[in-house]
Amino acid sequence: GKGQHRHFMLKEIFEQPEVIGNTLKTMLNPAERTLTLPQLPFDLATIARVRIIGCGTSYYAAMTAKYWIERMARVPVEVDIASEFRYRAPPLEPGGLAVFISQSGETADTLAALRHCQAEGQHTLALVNVPESTIAREAEGVLLTLAGPEIGVASTKAFTTQLTVLACLAVALGRARGALDRAAEAEVCHALAEVPARVADVLRREDSIRAVAPLVAEARDVLYLGRGSNYPIALEGALKLKEISYIHAEGYAAGELKHGPIALIDESVPVIVICPSDALYDKTASNVEEVVARGGKVIFLSDRAGLARLSAKVAARIELPDAEPLVAPLVYAIPVQLLAYHVAVAKGTDVDQPRNLAKSVTVE
Ligand code: F6R
Repeated sequence: GKGQHRHFMLKEIFEQPEVIGNTLKTMLNPAERTLTLPQLPFDLATIARVRIIGCGTSYYAAMTAKYWIERMARVPVEVDIASEFRYRAPPLEPGGLAVFISQSGETADTLAALRHCQAEGQHTLALVNVPESTIAREAEGVLLTLAGPEIGVASTKAFTTQLTVLACLAVALGRARGALDRAAEAEVCHALAEVPARVADVLRREDSIRAVAPLVAEARDVLYLGRGSNYPIALEGALKLKEISYIHAEGYAAGELKHGPIALIDESVPVIVICPSDALYDKTASNVEEVVARGGKVIFLSDRAGLARLSAKVAARIELPDAEPLVAPLVYAIPVQLLAYHVAVAKGTDVDQPRNLAKSVTVE
């Protein structure tokens, strides 16, 4: 049941420290700062290209993994929406690795993409939450998210456990390909081991996130901006908000702002900016100046240092714990979930069973 929580979605958001920890335990040795993936039926050292395929939130996990794998393993990664990939049926070089991300393991388009890749001689790897699912059974290799059953239609803990496994896959591939040395592996492993505590820290800040919900609840349209590996988190934030609050929301790469969406900015459009203090901070902060100069209402998500450095007059600030750049998407996924949740509660929508949506999309 929902226990002390009012909705399954909130319960599942609060389970994240535990389920991320459980998922990490299957791969990470925190004392030695090493990690080992479960046995795979192919050698990661031979993998020279990776393709990652999914739908919806699982696709955004794939997008995040592209940043991680390209950086840590120096292997080119292509990501695809399953329904686009399957009908495009692109030519594939034999010996590539194709990864299929699906919470349910039953999504029709993702399954069809898996079958296409198998026919084209790709190594296939399923990343699923349901071990006995069709996608898990048909793929050559399987990596499991230990999120436990996800009841809320809006995916939350499945997403962050997918990210957890994908970060580990990036490290393993980097080690196997010789792109990541032992010291770098140790650093990433240390950052990963801290994620459950960082996520728990974000959850303790729920009140400060709820306080911003009224600003968003009154809007008709909302923009989310992020850069680098946090760009997919902007997309995920927008998807969560539209799914459960029915507010129109779009995520953009912050650098794309002046290529179009800036035309939408006025005082009625909240702009939610995901901006940890990392190497890209200054770029995004200058986008914030542009939004504020046009009367936009910015809700700025950053750490203490990032908030202190911001000179623009933003409408609201949400302070988050410090996060290693590599794990920041895992930390910043949480406030966008909580914000969507509290906006939906403020609007009185059916959080766990949003209109028109199904938990598992087994038809095309
Ligand atoms: C979003 C959501 C959907 C699913 C998508 C893929 O909150 O739940 O976008 O992520 O339908 O589902 P799976 O991962 O089961 O293939």
